[in-house]
Amino acid sequence: MDVMDLRSAVDEVVFHHPVVVDNAYTKWFSKGEATGDEVRHLTVQFSVFSHLFVEAQLRKVINAADLDTYRAGKEILMNELGVVFRPVGRAGQAQPGVDPELVSTEGTVEASRFRFAAAHFEWLVRFGAPLGLGFADLGKRHQGSESTLFFCDELLRIYGSEDASTAEGASYAVEHWAAAGFWKELIGGLTAFKERACPDLNLAFWTWHDKVEDQHAAHTADELEEAVQLPGFDGGKFLAGAADMLQGVKAFWDGLWDDHLHGRTSI
Ligand SMILES: [Fe+2]
Repeated sequence: MDVMDLRSAVDEVVFHHPVVVDNAYTKWFSKGEATGDEVRHLTVQFSVFSHLFVEAQLRKVINAADLDTYRAGKEILMNELGVVFRPVGRAGQAQPGVDPELVSTEGTVEASRFRFAAAHFEWLVRFGAPLGLGFADLGKRHQGSESTLFFCDELLRIYGSEDASTAEGASYAVEHWAAAGFWKELIGGLTAFKERACPDLNLAFWTWHDKVEDQHAAHTADELEEAVQLPGFDGGKFLAGAADMLQGVKAFWDGLWDDHLHGRTSI
């Protein structure tokens, strides 16, 4: 399978996937009609995914096929844990702070500083405070619904796969899903909720990630070309990894949609 064949097959699998083009939950959420309990439910389920994602990212790093992939994975892992990105070429320079409205969305963790309060999970904990959610209410496996845990386990299995073609397919799918606009839909709904009911809500966790995705979207085009050059690359496994991973993503959002339709919430 050459790059052109792979590109058109990927277009079919990833760009037309229902969770990328037609996510009922985020479409509804963007209208700003969610109740306080529904915003709390989203926060808890998202915190479980986002915290357990760190495990999948570590597995991806451990299973990386080459040094470049290993380091690229570590950039994401260390940044998640609290090492802020610093602009390349400005090693050792003082960082402007730890909050997502202040820290950079690009650069490298190399020669930067670790700050506890810059961990993405701590940003979510601070986001949850005005909603009445504390540290113990967020990010634990036992707080995840069945569909949230299915997604988290699929991330470990596919995104963190030992098979490089499978893992690359999953990465490609996750990045394209994340860049397709769901952050903006959540931000739209949260902004409306903040204005209506919760003025202290700080949306920086969400806006920081949205900014990162806008940058990713600008330079993902050549990732396919890099993937096909992996030793032993298998196009079929790449496509299966992408498709299976998006089913996991879809389960997460469909679970939240179903909870909305049936009035189920975490707390
Ligand atoms: Fe993050």
